[in-house]
Amino acid sequence: MESIQIGSTLLSQQISMPDNKIFVFDTTLRDGEQVPGCKLNTSEKVELALELEELGVDIIEAGFPVSSPGDFNSVQEIAKIMTKAVVCGLSRAVQKDIEVAAAALKPAERFRIHTGIGTSDFHIKSKFNSTREDILARAVQCVKWARNFTDDVEFYAEDAGRTENEYLARVIEAVIKAGATTVNIPDTTGYCLPHQYGEKIAFLVNNVSNIGKAIISCHCHNDLGLATANTIAGVMNGARQMECTINGLGERAGNTSLEEVVMVIRQHKELNCYTDIKAQNLNPVSWQVSEIMRMPVQPNKAIVGSNAFSHSSGIHQDGFLKDAQTYEIINPEDVGAEGSKIVLTARSGRSALAHRLSKLGYQFTRNDIDVLYGTFLKVADVKKEVEDEDLRNMAMHYQQEAIVAL
Ligand code: KIV
Ligand code: ZN
Repeated sequence: MESIQIGSTLLSQQISMPDNKIFVFDTTLRDGEQVPGCKLNTSEKVELALELEELGVDIIEAGFPVSSPGDFNSVQEIAKIMTKAVVCGLSRAVQKDIEVAAAALKPAERFRIHTGIGTSDFHIKSKFNSTREDILARAVQCVKWARNFTDDVEFYAEDAGRTENEYLARVIEAVIKAGATTVNIPDTTGYCLPHQYGEKIAFLVNNVSNIGKAIISCHCHNDLGLATANTIAGVMNGARQMECTINGLGERAGNTSLEEVVMVIRQHKELNCYTDIKAQNLNPVSWQVSEIMRMPVQPNKAIVGSNAFSHSSGIHQDGFLKDAQTYEIINPEDVGAEGSKIVLTARSGRSALAHRLSKLGYQFTRNDIDVLYGTFLKVADVKKEVEDEDLRNMAMHYQQEAIVAL
């Protein structure tokens, strides 16, 4: 048994881990594409898959091949061109699904079949009208079917977030024995609190005898806005794969946002782990996904929102202009953003006004700025944001009046 240090937790795992790399499993093209209005055709999916591979994701979930001939074709085309990323296809615990997924993925250099079934009592009773024992048997069976096509099989225990831990551990142990090499523990309904999700992962680490033969994966939904926190809690407790989407797209309130979890890991060195994502590509990829999926990004979205590096209140602007680190924990260029912005509103101060005027080429004294600030506030109270054009008008008017007064 080999021990792995993750944050403050010491885990015993048999799996050979060269280091503390966290695998990034991108599901923008599958869970993300399930969003109403975000459906993509094959050439759009191929274009994004190439961007995701360039971004450095380890696994691309390209689609759900049995769902439609169009999606089968998309997965197949992506499988043909990926050179570095593992290409993955989703299936239910249904033999036909798995066969169709395998056929679509066949051209790939490396492919993974992602199969599974609901394990919470809600799913077992309401969705399948079944029993825990029957679901366990079906879970084992689907992994065995998938193993006929590849030795890279990921099992998902849908609604694991609301599955009782003892039963979940039995299912996970059985599917690993059947050949699953990654075990996905989805918080499908986004219900868990971070400590609960973390404890669930720790429970599996400590109670599944063969857990060292598989990688534990986090797949968290954002129904309570906790997807990022839950994924990080999973990683802190032994998960080695994060399932996420660009811009946090996904069913209902979305999935874990890739840019957020990647940057949490990068900024918090004490987590003692890393991903292979090229952070400078994060904003460009976000813009591209937003454009192709016709899904705007909320301005206050972490890392990729248009306001993520904007400063608008006087107190913040003053501190930021003295030292950017006062109000910024990430350098915008490091994540491919356009740079920090000083936005002028009625809450802005004199230093921000002077800064923006100087960027337009106007050098005013402190007294000039005092006078101009009065005019600025009148404009700012009327307009939501004071633009460069307003500033030029203000400056020119002020200069003309100064000449007349001579
Ligand atoms: O949220 C979920 O449980 C899923 C599975 C199909 C992996 O997307
Ligand atoms: Zn999902």
